[in-house]
Amino acid sequence: MTPKRKKPFVAMLVFACQVQVQGGQCDGTQMNKASFSDDVVGVESLLSLGHDPNAPAPPGMDCCGMRPLHCAGIGNATRSAKVLIDAKADVNATSTGPVFSALHSAAYWCSPGVAELLLRAGAFVDARNQESRTPLIEAANSGCAAVVAILVRWGADVEAADAPDGRRAMHWAAERGSTETMQALLRADASPCSPIHRAGCTGCVGSTPLHRAAHKGKVEAVRLLLEHCDVDSIDSY
Ligand SMILES: *[C@@H]1O[C@H](CO)[C@@H](O)[C@H](O)[C@H]1NC(C)=O
Ligand SMILES: *[C@@H]1O[C@H](CO)[C@@H](O)[C@H](O)[C@H]1NC(C)=O
Repeated sequence: MTPKRKKPFVAMLVFACQVQVQGGQCDGTQMNKASFSDDVVGVESLLSLGHDPNAPAPPGMDCCGMRPLHCAGIGNATRSAKVLIDAKADVNATSTGPVFSALHSAAYWCSPGVAELLLRAGAFVDARNQESRTPLIEAANSGCAAVVAILVRWGADVEAADAPDGRRAMHWAAERGSTETMQALLRADASPCSPIHRAGCTGCVGSTPLHRAAHKGKVEAVRLLLEHCDVDSIDSY
């Protein structure tokens, strides 16, 4: 399951911490709007009028000061991403705050074409957002197996952990019950059973993906993990 693109506010709020969203999430600038809608003619004419392909939305105009490539990532807008990259948009540029990269957007909103273009143009595969999550973790979080497969092909660290909890992509995919995503991670040799070790994590040390799937009642994910993991592993709750 991929998040609904038509009603982006709720998921975006979760994604981008507790921020006030005013207006549409990609209505912050004309360029963001055109980019999100994959309106190539619009993007090209704004560029020819001198609009900056990197400009973030001004404060208060969207959730987080996103740039046109973020909006291409949210909109699965592969053609506008290509035009923006050709116009030298910075593929590593982050939103102004909360901070995340265009690759995080493409991962969370499940835009494989945009993710591939960003990576080909040199985007950092293991960039960290405000919550210390990598694009791989965000793709696992939204159950986007297609982007997970692309990211691991580009060398994403499958054991990267977020902070403060220390959950890895496998924890996130298990929690969501996305077995397709879990399979993609397993094919990339992600460890299915190893627990969280992060010191800053209260009450979750020892928690494995199996604990997370069981806690959330994700039966298929539990079934898959039991092919690999000890049914009696103990966490620290
Ligand atoms: C994203 O765009 C591609 C074409 O570029 C399309 O095949 C795919 O179905 C789209 N995905 C979603 C979730 O809309
Ligand atoms: C993106 O960031 C990574 C990591 O900092 C860096 O290695 C890479 O060269 C950057 N890519 C571009 C196109 O600037």
